[in-house]
Amino acid sequence: MDENEPAERPDPKPLMELTTAYWGSQTLLTANRIGLFEHLGHGPADAAAIADALGIRPRETGLLLKACVALGLLVESSHGFENSLLSDTYLVPGSPGYLGNAIRYSDDLYSTWGNLEQVLREAGPSMPTAEYTGGDPERTRHFVYGMHNRALGIGGAMIGMVDLTGRARMLDVGGGPGTYSALFARQYPKLRSQVMDLPEVAVVAREIVASMGLSDRVVPVAGDYSMEDFPPGNDVVLISGVMHRESENGCRKLVEKARDGLNSGGMLVISDVLTDNGGASPLFATLFGLNMMLTAPNGGVHSDFQVAGWMQEAGFLDVVIKPFPPPMPHRLLTGVVP
Ligand SMILES: C[S@@+](CC[C@H](N)C(=O)[O-])C[C@H]1O[C@@H](n2cnc3c(N)ncnc32)[C@H](O)[C@@H]1O
Repeated sequence: MDENEPAERPDPKPLMELTTAYWGSQTLLTANRIGLFEHLGHGPADAAAIADALGIRPRETGLLLKACVALGLLVESSHGFENSLLSDTYLVPGSPGYLGNAIRYSDDLYSTWGNLEQVLREAGPSMPTAEYTGGDPERTRHFVYGMHNRALGIGGAMIGMVDLTGRARMLDVGGGPGTYSALFARQYPKLRSQVMDLPEVAVVAREIVASMGLSDRVVPVAGDYSMEDFPPGNDVVLISGVMHRESENGCRKLVEKARDGLNSGGMLVISDVLTDNGGASPLFATLFGLNMMLTAPNGGVHSDFQVAGWMQEAGFLDVVIKPFPPPMPHRLLTGVVP
C-alpha cells in the first residue's frame, strides 16, 4: 500500500449522489412542467393513456413514470399510476399547499446553474434579473405566483413570530405578491399596508391581493427601493426576501431608509434566508447564496449576525434574531427605533 494513502478511504457515495442529483431534479421539474401531477389529480391512469393525454412518447413516458415512482412522486398499482401523497398535497394545482409555481421558478433557473463557472469568471449574473421582475411576462408570473405560494406556506409561521398589536401602518419593501402583508392584515383588522415593488410585479400583486379579498387595506404600489426614499409615518417596515439581492452597502441603505420611514417606536422586521455567523452553514443557505449570485447582480447571502449589526449601527434597539420553525430555512430579525 502507498504510504501516502490514508488507512481508510472515505466512502465516495456522497460524491456520486451529488454528481447525479440533477437527474432527480430534472425529472421533477419536467413532470411538473408537462402537467403530469395535474393530470393524475383526476385519478389513476396507465402509461399509454398518460402519454396520450400529455402528448408525449409512450416508451419514454414509461421510463419517466417508473423514475417518478422510485423518487416517491408517483405510486404504481393495479389501476396504473397515481400521485403519491406528497405529489397530491403539493403538486396538484388548486390544492392549498400547491408548490408547482415555485417549482416552475426553479425550473426557469435550471439552465442558469449550468453557467456557474462563467459567473465565477465574468462579472454579472447569468440570468438578467429583469427577466423575472417584468422583462418576461411569463417568467414574472411564475416568480410572483411562486413567491405567493411559498408565502402562503410559511406566512403562518411569520405571523406568529411578530406581535403587531396596536400598529396601523405597514410598508412592505420589495413585497412581491403582497402575501405577507395580506396575511398580517387578516390577523390585525386595523392594519393597512403599502406593498412597494417594481411596476410589473405590482400588477400581478394587485391580482393576488384581490383574490385574498384584501384590496381595501393592502395596496401594491410601483416603486424602486434603491432609487426612492420610503414614505414616512410607518409603524412597521417589513423587508422580507430582499437582503439576499443586495450588497452589504445596499442592505445598510435599506435599513437606514426603513429607520427614516418609521414613527418613533416603529418596528423593522427583516426576514430572509441567512447563514450562521461565518457563512458556511446551514447548507441550504450557502447554496441559496450561489443561486442568488446567478440571478441578481449583487445577489448572495448574509449572516444573521451581520444583519443584526447593521440594524444596531443604524440605531435600532432591542434587536432580536429568531429562526423560523424547522424545516423552514428563514430567520427573522426585529428591532425598534427609539
Ligand atoms: C425574493 S422577492 C421577496 C418578495 C416578498 N417580500 C417575499 O418575501 O415573498 C424580492 C422582491 O424584491 C423586488 N425588487 C427587486 N428589486 C427591487 C427594487 N429595486 N425596488 C423594489 N422592489 C424590488 C422583486 O421584484 C421581488 O418581488
